[in-house]
Amino acid sequence: MQNIVLIGFMGSGKTTVGKALAEKLQMDFVDTDALIEAQEGKSIASIFETQGEAKFRGLEHNLLEESDFSNAVVSTGGGMPCHFNNMDQLNKIGTTVYLKVNSEELTQRLIGNSANRPKMLAGTKEESKKRVDELLQQREVYYSKANFTIENEGKRMEEVVANIINFCQ
Ligand code: S3P
Repeated sequence: MQNIVLIGFMGSGKTTVGKALAEKLQMDFVDTDALIEAQEGKSIASIFETQGEAKFRGLEHNLLEESDFSNAVVSTGGGMPCHFNNMDQLNKIGTTVYLKVNSEELTQRLIGNSANRPKMLAGTKEESKKRVDELLQQREVYYSKANFTIENEGKRMEEVVANIINFCQ
């Protein structure tokens, strides 16, 4: 089977679904944020803080350029598809699956979780929702280039995993 690449907003379930998918298919699980953290020896939040977002986006892009994934489920950072030609590159790496979740639900999942998510600013629920809406609106155009879109809300994870496997086979 080709690599499977999960894309979608922060909190859309890429890691949870990706790990379950990899286990079920006996594929490797790869997380692009974790690869960057290991390579740089610091957290994503610290890279943003000390070197800025542009540096992080460069690291994400280089990772894709140099990637050599095989038999892998790749979980990507939420902004990765939306910079440079990364979405085209991701479509070359494997079958891309967009885990789609509405902004209300995303806000619920992300609220109070901004410390290690530099793109989310701490604030009220209304402010968080506004931020999610704003980013989603900018990003949807990239996410919609995925080979397959699946809604990941109000569904059991097993169902989501089964749907993805069905599509990728
Ligand atoms: C980001 C999402 C994060 C991480 C970084 C930036 C984004 O990954 O790459 O904080 O721009 O949406 P997750 O989607 O895994 O939270």
